[in-house]
Amino acid sequence: MTVPIDSQMYELQVPTLSLPRHVGIIMDGNGRWAKKRNRPRVFGHKNGVDAVRQVVKSSGEWGIPALTLYAFSDENWQRPRDEVGVIMSLLESYILKEKEELNRNNVRLRVIGELDRLNPRIREILTDAVSDLSSNTGLILTLALSYGGRSEITRAVRMIAKRIEDGNLSSKDITNQLISDHLDTSGLPDPDLIIRTSGEQRLSNFLLWQSAYAELYFTDVLWPDFSKEEFSRAIVYFGTRERRFGRTSDQLSKSRNLQSETSTVEC
Ligand code: FPP
Repeated sequence: MTVPIDSQMYELQVPTLSLPRHVGIIMDGNGRWAKKRNRPRVFGHKNGVDAVRQVVKSSGEWGIPALTLYAFSDENWQRPRDEVGVIMSLLESYILKEKEELNRNNVRLRVIGELDRLNPRIREILTDAVSDLSSNTGLILTLALSYGGRSEITRAVRMIAKRIEDGNLSSKDITNQLISDHLDTSGLPDPDLIIRTSGEQRLSNFLLWQSAYAELYFTDVLWPDFSKEEFSRAIVYFGTRERRFGRTSDQLSKSRNLQSETSTVEC
């Protein structure tokens, strides 16, 4: 029997393990989930929306500050027109139906990607929802739509080049931070944990710059089956990782000891 994991149990049992500040999810496997049931691919996308609801709720319960969902990539525009249409209408109905619930749960909404490519009606619905939820202070839910990491970096480089052309910036001012500040995710912490469902083990152009130090968690579970419990497994996995950021284990434990000594002195 597998032991159920949830955020409250975790808090009681392992209160010292760290939580990710930002989780990114590549929601994959909707088509295969539907195929296994002899249903059209869009049936998988429809059921994928329930999994979206569950991870959003669960992120709030865990107290995770930011969650980014890869809902539609640059490349997804090449899918059959009908399928693109269904994904877009699912997005639309998700926002319209869930806005109140997101508000009750104190969720802020952000959207990243080449939004100009979305149909004006969906853009308007998204813009309204972003504005209506903007004063919330809980989870920051970011939807990556018509998003690709490379095109995001290209757009950032263009903005920086323009500022140099206009004489407002010097090439010497270009730092990692400056580049981060020109990405769509500006202001968000880098993702500490990237989850990909369905057994594929690649980033597929998702948050390429931002995930430089992210822990990667791959599961064979197909997206529509990705429950709160599966999400909790990924969070617990993250808590067991030692994040060295290029340093050695010894250096880390010394700096941890130093931190706890300092905090004892401060008390
Ligand atoms: C990948 O599975 C999934 C997508 C490209 C679409 C994801 C969209 C949703 C879950 C619904 C709407 C989203 C929100 C945020 C409400 P796939 O189709 O590539 O699966 P396959 O690899 O098995 O074919």
